[in-house]
Amino acid sequence: MKSVSSGMFPFYRPRRLRRTPALISTFKQTSLRKEQLVLPFFVTEGTQKRTPVNSMPGVHQLSIDELLTETSAAVKTGVQSILLFGIPSKKDELASEAYAANGITQKAVRALKKEFPDIIIMTDVCLCEYTSHGHCGVIKKDKQGQFVVDNDESLEFLAKTAVSHADAGADVVAPSDMMDGRVKAIRTELDKAGFNQTIIMSYAAKYASAFYGPFREAAESAPKFGNRRAYQMESANTDEALREVAMDIEEGADIVMVKPGLAYLDILHQVKRTFRYPTAVYMVSGEYAMIKAAAEKGWINEEQIMMESHLSMARAGADIIISYAAKEICNSLNKNMQ
Ligand code: PBG
Repeated sequence: MKSVSSGMFPFYRPRRLRRTPALISTFKQTSLRKEQLVLPFFVTEGTQKRTPVNSMPGVHQLSIDELLTETSAAVKTGVQSILLFGIPSKKDELASEAYAANGITQKAVRALKKEFPDIIIMTDVCLCEYTSHGHCGVIKKDKQGQFVVDNDESLEFLAKTAVSHADAGADVVAPSDMMDGRVKAIRTELDKAGFNQTIIMSYAAKYASAFYGPFREAAESAPKFGNRRAYQMESANTDEALREVAMDIEEGADIVMVKPGLAYLDILHQVKRTFRYPTAVYMVSGEYAMIKAAAEKGWINEEQIMMESHLSMARAGADIIISYAAKEICNSLNKNMQ
């Protein structure tokens, strides 16, 4: 009687295949590349500032000088892309620091470009870190007298922000606001301003998620009233993600992103399979924090769990992985190669 091999080789054979390390590595279908990792940073005004983010061990709000030091350390491990979040010293209703020529993100991009001309600099394009109310767009009163985010009014501000980032030298702008039509508005204004080489990575399928909790502490961007459910996606929905991605591609996105990562691997897989488009995934603050917290308690093997989690996102279809653990992953990959 024939037995079915349970191993990597789906052949009918009368014996079990012993998986030796050499066979395992030869037949591996997916691997992580250092080049596909993107490390996010939070940048603030001042000098010699390194304010730890409590809920994200190893992550700090950094002044520009410290950002340069951290970037240099990351680049040495093999990280070649970074994603910047600016934390301005003053916030207002219209997020004016988001598109100020000398805003915190713009200054940080210029400093990084000068010191590290070869790395890829991505910037988060959103208003929530810059508005006094903490919403991702501008706020208007509707006919019932309720404060609501005005989608169409917000587009102009988002496009202005993206152009000012490109003007400072950003290679990739990443709108995370989830306003409808923002990719088109940003593409149009970038092209008009002569930045037709600037890449748009849109947070296309961005779910309204409790996993963003620690980020809102890091970026000081928690909404002062209401929540983001009016513009971010409902976590129960799948088809909506595909429609959002289709719209962003249609509007001119170069890379589409699914976010969060680990809790939405099915969405990531479907997006990659459906569109065959450059696809990014964001392993967000809460996902990072959970692994760190369990590791601090000694309940899990941090390095192995980090590697397995990142590999699972690559396996599900991610070309690009944005992760607070990007440097650690590079370190692990460097070690394993020896
Ligand atoms: C800004 C933005 C958020 C994240 C990235 N860009 C937070 C949010 O939408 O509330 C979350 C990233 C993370 O949790 O690591 N809109």
